[in-house]
Amino acid sequence: MTSPTDLPSSETIRVLHDRVSVRRFSEKDVSEDHVEAVLRAAFRAPTSSNIQSYSVIIVRDADTKAALATAAGNQGHVARTPVFLAFCADLTRIELASKRNGHELADNNLEVGLVSSIDASLVGMAAYMAADSLGLKGVMIGGVRNNPRDVARILGLPHRVYCVYGMCLGWPAETPAQKPRMDYQYVVHRERYDEAATAAAVDAYDPALAAHYRASGRQTTDDSWSHDMAAKFHPPLRDNLRADLKSLGFDFR
Ligand SMILES: Cc1cc2nc3c(=O)[nH]c(=O)nc-3n(C[C@H](O)[C@H](O)[C@H](O)COP(=O)(O)O)c2cc1C
Repeated sequence: MTSPTDLPSSETIRVLHDRVSVRRFSEKDVSEDHVEAVLRAAFRAPTSSNIQSYSVIIVRDADTKAALATAAGNQGHVARTPVFLAFCADLTRIELASKRNGHELADNNLEVGLVSSIDASLVGMAAYMAADSLGLKGVMIGGVRNNPRDVARILGLPHRVYCVYGMCLGWPAETPAQKPRMDYQYVVHRERYDEAATAAAVDAYDPALAAHYRASGRQTTDDSWSHDMAAKFHPPLRDNLRADLKSLGFDFR
């Protein structure tokens, strides 16, 4: 196997390899030009059947950020971030196009919900990397799905728009050590899925993550990742989500 350092590389690959979530920011302003440059680049992301079913809310107001921080599960970095971007799945334009052609968007099924959420996610990731390439760092905030209705109210989202995830963005005031990833050899399969890779991946990753956390001064168990995942998904995570998203106009049925 080729050593990772001997693989082809590029500026984009280097940016991706260096990426890490950042939750502390300097006071320095993030200009509107920077945000616009990031979002205009991100909107070149591929979009399923060209539906472009996303909208982004740029939030700078301190009270709005504080309210979002609470809704996202009391995440202080959301209140303290210079800019918060809300990446939303947005069916309003599809609904308008449908109505203009004599149809209702009653058929708002799982595919529509998934496709619009994937679209919003691709734009968000593209924005994240565009920002990173300018030296702007941040972290995605899935905590907004703790309380989707509160988030919709805070952001004034109309029916058929929900915030898939948010993003804190700013000039970094920390350089966190990178969290290790699972071994390439267990995550990538050749020709057919290798089920033996599942246990091998977890067995190798638990001690690697434990070592990372301990080196960062964070307490953990020896089965660090397994322990955290079991705790996170038991009892089921965000059990209210289907009902909340339905009330916002996404049936996911
Ligand atoms: C969709 C998504 C939602 C996330 N939500 C949160 C969040 O609500 N709060 C937070 O602090 N980090 C959040 N993160 C960041 C992850 O915790 C982080 O990416 C992961 O632990 C790996 O660390 P790294 O990004 O530094 O490599 C989220 C990441 C993603 C992709």
